Amino acid sequence: MNFKIGNLEFPKPIVQGGMGIGVSLSSLAGTVSKFGGLGVLSGVEMGYAEPDYKKNPKQANRRALEKHFSRAKEIAENRPIGINIMVALTQYEEIVKNAVQTGVDIIFAGAGLPLTLPELTRDSLTKIAPIISSKRVAKLILKHWWRHYEAVPDAIVLEGPLAGGHLGFKREELTPESLNKLQLTDLIPGVLEELKPYEDKVGRPIPLIAGGGIITADDVKAVIDAGASAVQLGSRFVTTFECDASDAFKQAMINAKKEDIIIIDSPAGLPGRAIQNAFLEDVKKGLKHPTSCPMNCLKTCDFKNTPYCIGNALIVGQEGDLENGYVFSGANAYAIGEIVHVEDLMNELVSKLN
Ligand SMILES: Cc1cc2nc3c(=O)[nH]c(=O)nc-3n(C[C@H](O)[C@H](O)[C@H](O)COP(=O)(O)O)c2cc1C
Repeated sequence: MNFKIGNLEFPKPIVQGGMGIGVSLSSLAGTVSKFGGLGVLSGVEMGYAEPDYKKNPKQANRRALEKHFSRAKEIAENRPIGINIMVALTQYEEIVKNAVQTGVDIIFAGAGLPLTLPELTRDSLTKIAPIISSKRVAKLILKHWWRHYEAVPDAIVLEGPLAGGHLGFKREELTPESLNKLQLTDLIPGVLEELKPYEDKVGRPIPLIAGGGIITADDVKAVIDAGASAVQLGSRFVTTFECDASDAFKQAMINAKKEDIIIIDSPAGLPGRAIQNAFLEDVKKGLKHPTSCPMNCLKTCDFKNTPYCIGNALIVGQEGDLENGYVFSGANAYAIGEIVHVEDLMNELVSKLN
C-alpha cells in the first residue's frame, strides 16, 4: 500500500513520530525512511551532544541539525526525511528557517498552534504538516492558513489521547473512563470532514496521518480502515535497535507495566504521558526545584515556578540517567515485548494491510 505526500512517495504508510530530546535522530529516522516509511528527526535541542552546546547552544543546534539531516539522508539512500519542531520552543522560528535552508523534506509542527508556518516556509520545497488532536484545532489551523496565506497543509497528523509525550488534551479527557470513550478511530471522520473542502479548493488530497497507542498490525489496519492515509508511531520505534536513545531508556519502556504509564503535568504547560519512576515521584511530592534555566528552551516554561528543568530531564533520561530524568511513553507501550530491528517492525506493522 503506497502512501503519498504530494510528490513524496512512501512504499509503506508509516510515519515515525519525532521524539525529543535526542530519541529520534539520524539513526532512527534514516533507517525508517530507508525501509519505506517516513523517518522524522526531533528538532528539540539537537545539539545537546555537541562539545560547545553549553557555550553556544544556537550554533550547536544548527550544526547538529545539518549533521543529522545529512547522515539520515545517507542512511535512507536519499529518501525523504522529516523534522518535528515544537511550536512552544523559544527557537521555533529559527529552527524552522534552518530546516528549510538545510533542505529538510517536511516539517511537522505541534505542541502549540503553527499559525505562521506557511509564512516561515514560503517559497521553499519543504512541506508542512501541523499536528493536531481534535477536529476543532484542525478547523482553526485550516481556516487561518487559508485566510492569511491561501495555503493548505501538505499533510496533517492527528495525535490521539493514547500517544506518548506532550498531549493536546485536557487532564480530565485523559482519565481511564474518558479514554474508554475517546478512541482514535472515532476522531478520524471529524478531521476528514474538515479537510474535504480544502482538498476541493486546491484539487489535491491532504493525507491524514493518525497515531497514538498503535502497537500491532491490527491497530494499524483499524486506523487505515477508519480513513487515515498513514499511521504515526512513537513508542514502538523507541524499542528498536536503531533508536538513538540509550539501551537503559529502551529497557525502561520494555519493562513498564500498564500501571506504570502515567499522566504528568509537564513544565511545557501541557499534560504528558510518561513512565513512573523515583524522579517523577519526587516531583509529585514537590521535591525537585531547578536552580537556573540553562537552556531557555520553551516559551511556555516559567522556570522560577516549575518543579524541574524538562530540557535537562529529557536529555539525561535519553542518555540513561533515570534518577534525574524520565521516559515519555505511549499508553500501550507496556504491551511491547522486545527490542527489534526497524526493518522487521515495519514489515510486521504492514502485514495486515491489503
Ligand atoms: C519518548 C517520546 C518522545 C516524544 N517526543 C515528541 C516530540 O518531541 N514532539 C512531538 O510532537 N511528539 C513527541 N512524541 C510523540 C510521538 O511523536 C508520537 O506521536 C506518539 O508517541 C505516538 O504514540 P505512541 O507512542 O503510542 O505510538 C514523543 C513520544 C515519545 C514516546
